[in-house]
Amino acid sequence: MSRRTVFLFLLATLAPAAGSALSPEAREGQALFPACHVCHDPTLAPPLGPPMWGVQRRYRNASLDKEDFVERIVAFVKAPSLEQALMTPAVERLGLMPALPLPDDMLHKIAAYIWEADFAPPCEHWRNAARWAESTGDAAHAAHDARMLQRFCSGRP
Ligand code: HEC
Repeated sequence: MSRRTVFLFLLATLAPAAGSALSPEAREGQALFPACHVCHDPTLAPPLGPPMWGVQRRYRNASLDKEDFVERIVAFVKAPSLEQALMTPAVERLGLMPALPLPDDMLHKIAAYIWEADFAPPCEHWRNAARWAESTGDAAHAAHDARMLQRFCSGRP
């Protein structure tokens, strides 16, 4: 085989795995995720929780690694507190999330899924939020949502 053929062969075998592969643990977490999605569904208007796209981003930024991320998510879901909360605008608008007393192993799997998942940017959520912020005269939030839309959603329906 030529070098080029080898390269194309490798590309063909690797490509399908690259996008969608979840670890077995995260796949189990995905099956349990509807317990969170009921509130974290980004298409709800008005929203019942912040879209997981943003939660994942904030928690990834605040965490050292996957293990730290999972521990932080599990700790928050078991006992939400203002001290730990990172999603300040969501807390201000919706109040603190209620504690969900699910077994630890389930929460670990769900958190592993949230770490690995490829959530779509919540464009519809930002559009609704921008409109809502404008109608209530909240210029700072309207501008923030407009920036997010421009940055992550240009060209998306
Ligand atoms: C009854 C609705 C509801 C359900 C069910 C729910 N959440 Fe939430 N969640 C919220 C709300 C509202 C917020 C925003 C307020 C806050 O941050 O406490 C939130 C925020 C969060 C945050 C960010 C906390 C922060 O501010 O740092 C995490 C992490 C989270 N949820 C994880 C989960 C997971 C995991 C599940 C499923 C096991 C889940 N939630 C189920 C309503 C819900």
